[in-house]
Amino acid sequence: MRIKAWFPTFIYCAPLLRTGAARFNAELLKEAYQLRDFDRDGQKWSKKNYPGGFTTYGSLDKLHQFSSTFTELQRRIDRHVKAFARKLDFDLANRRLEMTDCWVNIMPRQTAHGLHLHPTSTLSGTYYVKTPKGCAAIKFEDPRLDRFMAAPPRKAGASRENQAFVHYPAEAGNVILFESWLRHEVPANPVEAERVSISFNYNWF
Ligand code: NI
Repeated sequence: MRIKAWFPTFIYCAPLLRTGAARFNAELLKEAYQLRDFDRDGQKWSKKNYPGGFTTYGSLDKLHQFSSTFTELQRRIDRHVKAFARKLDFDLANRRLEMTDCWVNIMPRQTAHGLHLHPTSTLSGTYYVKTPKGCAAIKFEDPRLDRFMAAPPRKAGASRENQAFVHYPAEAGNVILFESWLRHEVPANPVEAERVSISFNYNWF
């Protein structure tokens, strides 16, 4: 083999649970809607920063510390984070990756989340609670784009690993993990029904 790929960018995607996801998601969804109804600061923050949608990112971003349902979610995600960190060969020097932030996102039609990364975190991810058919995917950007200089664009039919973007469809019950420096976005949700997800950060210090 003359050509090898180096410096890969890993993205993890797996079902959170082997069984019982529907029941667990119903509980999470109920709490997400309660938050939307009662979190006034979140409503205000979302109006300004998340047009059309609702997020607790600017108001209640440590839900795993305040709700037993979200603590349970954290416990369940921990297992996946451990597996992902193993694949990444992280040397955590006797420290542990711990969830630092956890918040809810409710996206109706046309609500979007522009390109961003998660500074000051190690691993980030999303768990999907409600994903109506045709709802927006999460889109990741090749982290080397800003170094491509005179590199030609890729052919339309380029192999997946040579494309500049990759989309992961949102699927209720799945958890997606990535390194926090990897830029991503959620384009405007094209369908009427709300897409509900829970995002989180992990840190090792
Ligand atoms: Ni994000």
